[in-house]
Amino acid sequence: MCGIIGFSGREQAAPILLDGLERMEYRGYDSAGIAVRSETKGLQVKKTKGRLRVLSDLTHGGADLEGTLGIGHTRWATHGEPNDINAHPHVSENGQIALVHNGIIENYLEIKEQLQRRGVTFTSDTDSEVVAQLLEYHYNECHNMLEAVGRVLRRIEGSYAFGIICSDFPNALIAARKDSPLILGYGENGNFIASDVTAIIKYTRDVVYMEDGEIAVVTPESIDVFDSEMNPLEKQHSQVDWDVSAAEKGGYAHFMFKEIMEQPEAIAKTVSPRIRDGRVVLDDITLTADYVRDISRIFIIACGSSYHVGMVSKYNWERLLRRPVQVDLASEFRYSDPLVDEKSLVVVISQSGETLDTMAAMREAKRRGARTLAVVNVVGSSIAREADDVLYTWAGPEIAVATTKAYSTQLVLMDLIGLYLADLLGTVEKSEYDAILAEVQVLPEKMSHFLEHFEDVQYFASRYFNHNSIFFIGRNLDYAMGLEGSLKLKEISYIHSEAYASGELKHGTISLIEPGTLVVALGTYAALFDKAMSNVVEVKARGAEVLAVTTETFKEKMEKTADSTIVVPDTHPILQPSLGVVPLQLFAYYVALQRGCDIDKPRNLAKSVTVE
Ligand code: AGP
Repeated sequence: MCGIIGFSGREQAAPILLDGLERMEYRGYDSAGIAVRSETKGLQVKKTKGRLRVLSDLTHGGADLEGTLGIGHTRWATHGEPNDINAHPHVSENGQIALVHNGIIENYLEIKEQLQRRGVTFTSDTDSEVVAQLLEYHYNECHNMLEAVGRVLRRIEGSYAFGIICSDFPNALIAARKDSPLILGYGENGNFIASDVTAIIKYTRDVVYMEDGEIAVVTPESIDVFDSEMNPLEKQHSQVDWDVSAAEKGGYAHFMFKEIMEQPEAIAKTVSPRIRDGRVVLDDITLTADYVRDISRIFIIACGSSYHVGMVSKYNWERLLRRPVQVDLASEFRYSDPLVDEKSLVVVISQSGETLDTMAAMREAKRRGARTLAVVNVVGSSIAREADDVLYTWAGPEIAVATTKAYSTQLVLMDLIGLYLADLLGTVEKSEYDAILAEVQVLPEKMSHFLEHFEDVQYFASRYFNHNSIFFIGRNLDYAMGLEGSLKLKEISYIHSEAYASGELKHGTISLIEPGTLVVALGTYAALFDKAMSNVVEVKARGAEVLAVTTETFKEKMEKTADSTIVVPDTHPILQPSLGVVPLQLFAYYVALQRGCDIDKPRNLAKSVTVE
């Protein structure tokens, strides 16, 4: 979604703002802008539709805007089309106040009409401009910027992270948050606000996470944080331990490819600290055996790829725990009057830890008394802070919009949690437990081995990249894995693609199979391999071209029927999706590359989805 940065310091702000915005480019956006204040020139604003390069050229790398106080924004349009006028910062009518906003103001139309009746003229179609105008209105009433912000926050409904500067308020920027992430950064030459730690990590690792309802005043020397009643707060500082280089391409053409290649290392980091003396150790959570025995329902809730991890985990956990596990899309769960109570364990999965639907679903579950466990990648993110327990996937920063290493680390961490719970319940045989743990530990090595021979996948992508419609079919874990393969392909190559449970084909979808249709057949799930093969034969009989993914065990059988076969190493069945998904990620990557797509920043998508 939108990215926000603000700086108040002892250096020129504009180049710092542009640099920070560039580091958030991966989040996806359609326009960008900055506003800088100087003693002599007052507020200067430049904003434009398109990529950051356009803004940078327009301002000569920021040199055109003088001043050491400023705010910047990359926009992902919600209200009003992406154009220069709707881009942020938005400036109040008399040019005194500039504001950047992430989120959605739900009652903006009502406020806009009231202000219009008082003669205020609006230039954009956005909800954000309404806030800038409302601020000016209250500022003119009370002549105190902080007080005006407080009044505005009491008037508006919805979600927001704001960065605000005012020509009368030298050297200070004001920040406020509700349901949209915002962090404060303490730098050597000044202080920051940012929606994303990657924007400021070059300048500081010393950060404070703002909570809902808080307001901050940021000057070059200090940051003061207040609650909604303007009582000063003592905030705890956190140190960001990400390496700057982790958020850079390091010689790779795309972040997505780099992140695919980083998966073995990321999995090792997620797994190694959690296996001690042949047991899964989850020090960070406090679930006791008694508590787990008392749980009547288990829910897994997430969106997109994280939901697909949930789908894999449902199969795996039910097998390990011998209990029903319900997987729900967060956007559906939150409005479904869910049957959740104090005896429910609700596991939420989110890379960013900021996905609004997932957060709202988690809050709903908590409201109904459930215990929540979050599986999150971004340390200190909102979901991580609000869940009863959190387990981090130590994947490091994931920049490409299409997730790969975060997905893989979520998958393996969910397997460990399943094993841990099964052990507490006594529902897993020791031999099975040991076999899974042994395989988890060699997973990175097996994955690395496969990644050394990615050329096969590259070749198949060059053969199939011009198909307009692609089906992924598989059973059980292969079906769940197919959902992810299909989403990867859709989001970065823009090819229409669907994933089906193989057995479901003949109930409708098979009518779409015609000579030449590409079907990606997944045959890595040993228990149902023969059944899956029958479905491959069915689509072949209707003229489909079949690209198969299978394991070494089934290579020979598969090669007899499929047109092309990709072979991944064998592992324990529960872990097989961790290896099977890698060729699907690479296939999507190379197909998108052949089609000339913007791989790291696919159209219309954003890395962290902080609106409904
Ligand atoms: C995956 O490639 C997507 N970009 C998307 O589906 C993502 O997984 C989804 O938006 C959920 O994000 P989260 O894990 O940060 O909550």
